[in-house]
Amino acid sequence: MNNILVLEGSPRKGNTSVVTDWVLAGMGKGNKVTRVKLCEQHIQPCQECFTCTDTKKGAGCAQDDDMVELYDKLIDADLVLWASPIFCWNVTAQTKAVLDRCFALLTGEDLLKGSKWALVITAGGDAFDGADLAVEMFRRLADYGDIKYLGQHVVAPCPDGAKLKNSAVLQKQAKLFGKELAAAVKKG
Ligand SMILES: Cc1cc2nc3c(=O)[nH]c(=O)nc-3n(C[C@H](O)[C@H](O)[C@H](O)COP(=O)(O)O)c2cc1C
Repeated sequence: MNNILVLEGSPRKGNTSVVTDWVLAGMGKGNKVTRVKLCEQHIQPCQECFTCTDTKKGAGCAQDDDMVELYDKLIDADLVLWASPIFCWNVTAQTKAVLDRCFALLTGEDLLKGSKWALVITAGGDAFDGADLAVEMFRRLADYGDIKYLGQHVVAPCPDGAKLKNSAVLQKQAKLFGKELAAAVKKG
């Protein structure tokens, strides 16, 4: 059984949620899945105080908000699945705030070393018109933090609402990615 943490960065329950449902279905049953809707969390942006850099044990972040609980979840997860729509060529502000705050786990004890991350993206524009910068950002951050980046599923251009929900092709592709992801997590 894998412990999967899904960080949902859309401000609504929309396209990215639908695609994420399919990816998780493709990963199969029996996993412990924790879905965190970031817009419902109180997570401040990084204040650049560098308390985390000066702290040798734990995250060492000076801020006391919902990120404290999320730090533990990020460390414990067998897979962190970041799910975000593209807003202005990148992930949403909600997602970016969490990414920046992850900096606290990359200092001191290096608590994300060896973690596994993957990405689900939906975008209104063409695949590498809308999503390429976000994908590259994750790749580089993972590389910087010794995190295993297991890949991304990008739906672009992503149809809205019923058109998306009724697309057997998009559903099949997302489930296939989920299946491959499960295999990659198992492989280690
Ligand atoms: C503020 C805003 C900015 C957006 N910027 C982009 C963009 O730069 N590139 C793109 O391809 N789509 C862009 N989109 C479209 C969304 O990425 C797309 O509709 C996505 O599927 C929405 O996902 P959601 O329903 O999960 O929120 C933008 C949408 C909004 C609301």
